[in-house]
Amino acid sequence: MSWYPGRTSGKIEGNNGLYMDYPDKGIAMTQGGTPRFKVPTLRNIMLTAPYMHDGSLATIDDVLDHYSNDIKNAVGLDDLLKVNNQAVKMNFTDSQRIALKAFLSTMTDEKVVADIKFSDPFIR
Ligand code: HEM
Repeated sequence: MSWYPGRTSGKIEGNNGLYMDYPDKGIAMTQGGTPRFKVPTLRNIMLTAPYMHDGSLATIDDVLDHYSNDIKNAVGLDDLLKVNNQAVKMNFTDSQRIALKAFLSTMTDEKVVADIKFSDPFIR
């Protein structure tokens, strides 16, 4: 079976292979099991660097490098990120990167970031 991007897990927490050995186990610290973290929203994702639970990826290109060729075969790595029980390498081409960034940019809500009424909870 080869990896294809049309599948979703529908899970709200997961492990996307940032580390072989996670220093921080995330949700597992209180609930047990393997290291896993909230799957974050992609809303305004182009505006919210740095990325991941520990802010370890500084730019969206670092995120795409991670999914392209740096996913670690961590214990608990989500099945969606495995092929033949190994961490997948998505190996994005340049044009796939451009398309992915264009897609992620569509989730930027210019209004919410520019409207003064969302800037300060004490402004009415
Ligand atoms: C091309 C495909 C993908 C892209 C572009 C992508 C993008 C991202 C981005 C930008 C973040 C960081 C969000 C933030 O810090 O606010 C993230 C985190 C995460 N993603 Fe993905 N993702 C992809 C595929 C997947 C898949 C297939 C899974 C299935 C397990 C997954 C699971 C996660 C998890 C669990 C996190 C949180 C990790 C942490 O906080 O340490 N992602 N993803």
